Amino acid sequence: LASKTLSGKQILITAGPTWESLDPARGLTNRASGKQGFALAQACAEAGAQVRLISGPSHEATPPGVLREDITSAQEMLEACLHSLEIPTDLLIANAAVADHRPTLQSLHKTPKSAVPEQIALTLNPDIVSSIHRHPQRPRVIVAFAAETRDHLDSARAKASRKGADTIIVNDISSNTTGMGCEINACTLLHDKTQIEIPACRKIDMARILIRHISKIHFASEVH
Ligand code: C5P
Repeated sequence: LASKTLSGKQILITAGPTWESLDPARGLTNRASGKQGFALAQACAEAGAQVRLISGPSHEATPPGVLREDITSAQEMLEACLHSLEIPTDLLIANAAVADHRPTLQSLHKTPKSAVPEQIALTLNPDIVSSIHRHPQRPRVIVAFAAETRDHLDSARAKASRKGADTIIVNDISSNTTGMGCEINACTLLHDKTQIEIPACRKIDMARILIRHISKIHFASEVH
């Protein structure tokens, strides 16, 4: 039985990819199924939290008790997150694989196949974690993710401090059997001097282990 380590906590989770449309039929996206983010939402709900899940396009089912909002683009995800911060938030878990760029111009009509664009101009998308970090209603704790390989723990730490995240979870995407789109995942959690390796396991088990560590690191004094 899951212990209610996050009883009454308000948690905001971003999950899935974002889709940046070029025209009504085409666009840019990132590889992400939403599986790990949805599993984290489930684990938080099991731990007694009030969970708001903001997700890009995903086929995953909404976990019981989780309030889900679907968005498409990075700009929509940011807007939905900022709106959601009107509820004082204890914890943000930014698991979404946000597309870094969007097409500068979006066509209202489908471009004919013969009109091959020589170049596609791109615009940098806003960084959702950084924007939330700078927001007056910043959640008490921000946990971000980094899809890297195990040799890049230093760059993950730098990424956390650049974005204003308190903890960063490095996803091992160096193999075909873990990470994006797979049923299993392997992670390293980094917080200050702490480094916790979590060996490959099912994403729901990973979510429960991560939530146990996050509760202990950030909410220990409040756990009953
Ligand atoms: O910089 P990178 O995309 O590797 O950072 C990953 C982390 O930052 C994830 O937590 C992701 O959800 C978040 N992110 C974001 N907004 C972006 C890009 C990434 O919140 N535009």
